[in-house]
Amino acid sequence: METLVQLSDVTKRYGSGSGEPALNRVSLQVPTGRVTAIMGPSGSGKSTLLNLIGGLDRPTSGVVTMEDVELSRLGEGALARHRRRKIGLIFQFFNLLNNLTALDNVLIPAELAGVPRRKALERGHELLDQLGIRQQAHKYPAQLSGGERQRVAVARAIVNRPVLLLADEPTGALDTHSGEQVMDLLADLNRAGQTILLVTHDPRIAQQYATGVIRLIDGQVADDSAGARRVAVQ
Ligand SMILES: Nc1ncnc2c1ncn2[C@@H]1O[C@H](COP(=O)(O)OP(=O)(O)OP(=O)(O)O)[C@@H](O)[C@H]1O
Ligand SMILES: [Mg+2]
Repeated sequence: METLVQLSDVTKRYGSGSGEPALNRVSLQVPTGRVTAIMGPSGSGKSTLLNLIGGLDRPTSGVVTMEDVELSRLGEGALARHRRRKIGLIFQFFNLLNNLTALDNVLIPAELAGVPRRKALERGHELLDQLGIRQQAHKYPAQLSGGERQRVAVARAIVNRPVLLLADEPTGALDTHSGEQVMDLLADLNRAGQTILLVTHDPRIAQQYATGVIRLIDGQVADDSAGARRVAVQ
């Protein structure tokens, strides 16, 4: 099994650093081509973990490696480029820009990456088609259902063909049916080769869609069935 992301002894403290760290000496591996679920109680460090892997934030200590690149060695500019080219992000509350149409929301990361407008448009339309929301291309987020909004967010996340798709509670704000539609979509993407790291509170979603589960408690790995972690025998 190939490893896409590796964390070695990663600690994250916020603010002044007093008190318990949000992540406490976490080591784990995210396997290539799988759906890996992160579970754990509120405050256990799941979003913090995603932010470090996505290069949105940096660890206090320890090393995050993706595709053999140590993220801590990248300066701000290189880290931003890494993020734009390699990472797709999906959030619980969609985080769409309300004053842009569905299509224009999808095109944002392509524009940031400097993709020519015509090529970006082609890709945007192709994705809206693929995700079953072609009819919604020129609607604004307020005119879309929750499930449609999240599908727009999925299209936006994958418009630049990221190596890694990070999803933080992508079904958390959706009813069961819309949640299943979004998860089926993510499963389709995974079948086409997309590596996905998925935070979920829902054990049924983890069981149905994930190959492995990493459980965090109080900022530490309590359980890891993602299958790629090699525990050193002391
Ligand atoms: N920006 C921040 N500044 C200070 N503390 C933070 C910050 N973000 C998170 N924390 C703290 O770090 C810990 C882990 O937070 P995190 O958001 O990673 O948890 P989580 O597992 O994603 O929780 P939830 O399931 O509620 O989303 C919590 O104690 C939280 O209060
Ligand atoms: Mg969270």
